[in-house]
Amino acid sequence: MFVKLLSVSLFKKGVVALFSLPIDQVLSGMKLAKPVLNMQGTLLLDKDNVLDEKSITALRNAGAKRLWVTDEGSQFLKEQGPQKVFQEIVRQLETVKEKTILGKSFDVNLVNEVAQELVEQIVVNETPFAEMVRMKAAENSILEHMVDVSILSIIIAKSLGMDKLDMRFLCFGTLVHDIGQFLIPREILNKPTQLNDSELKLIRKHPQFGYDILKNIDGVNKHALNITLQHHERLDGSGYPNGIKVNSIAHFSRIVAIADIYTAIIREKGYRRRLPIYEAGELLWAQAGITLDRSLTSAFLNSVVAFPIRSTVKLNNGVVAKVIAQNADFPMRPVVYADGEMVDLSENPTVFITEVIAYESD
Ligand SMILES: [Fe+2]
Repeated sequence: MFVKLLSVSLFKKGVVALFSLPIDQVLSGMKLAKPVLNMQGTLLLDKDNVLDEKSITALRNAGAKRLWVTDEGSQFLKEQGPQKVFQEIVRQLETVKEKTILGKSFDVNLVNEVAQELVEQIVVNETPFAEMVRMKAAENSILEHMVDVSILSIIIAKSLGMDKLDMRFLCFGTLVHDIGQFLIPREILNKPTQLNDSELKLIRKHPQFGYDILKNIDGVNKHALNITLQHHERLDGSGYPNGIKVNSIAHFSRIVAIADIYTAIIREKGYRRRLPIYEAGELLWAQAGITLDRSLTSAFLNSVVAFPIRSTVKLNNGVVAKVIAQNADFPMRPVVYADGEMVDLSENPTVFITEVIAYESD
């Protein structure tokens, strides 16, 4: 059904990017988004000050390590911010990999700090982060994969209204969920052709390997243990390693399962082609209520995959439209505005979105 829309004031201005960057990556012209205090709590520089070389140097000399900055009016942070944060986090987590391969415990405090930092950044920048994960052609390492899955899991958590402490627990668990893969030979993990039975069997042990590593490290809580052990379990019992069902699978593990599958299907992997976003969304939705938690899949599609409100999309009839509302029961079929009319795609089965042209455009 086509309904005339009287006003287009639904379209908010684009969201301003807001990032916490190491001070060495802060550029002249960026604006402080939060006040900078020294160790004693004295104000060094208030928010809204535009930084220049002199003030950046002064803040660095006063001991500031990171700054929350914004650069409204420029696309630099929106486009580069998530990438910079991502690279820094992967670099910080290298030690987790190194220690694990050596059979030693990693520094739990470090991962806690990274989780806290990542949560803080994603809750204010979810679309640029989701977009970065989506646009990436490949994940070059297990660490990169774990950070991608963490980003997506936090975005789902935010859409569910989860509090920050729980988000941090979720993030910690997600940042280490595939740690067991560090014990599996690289040739098997990166094999470009189909795996044989024994290789598949070994790979399917990685949740148990990970759990065994984590349970021997002080300070790792039950959420991280659950996520690591259960992220490949499926509601209908078809998952691994234990084939557990529905209520035996923890809430956090169900979230991570969806984010994990999504990152796998949107990337090209050896013998498998990369799925376009709308196909990936349809594929996930087909599993909702069967292998994946239905309401979490809906939340995921609405917040990450599908078509956020204000995104510009192309329909299969060639029309360019703007997303103005989502349908919880049909996440891949939102309400769009095109050519002066509002179209509810859930009521128009022959019209569907083929492409996202831009997110959060004005
Ligand atoms: Fe995994």
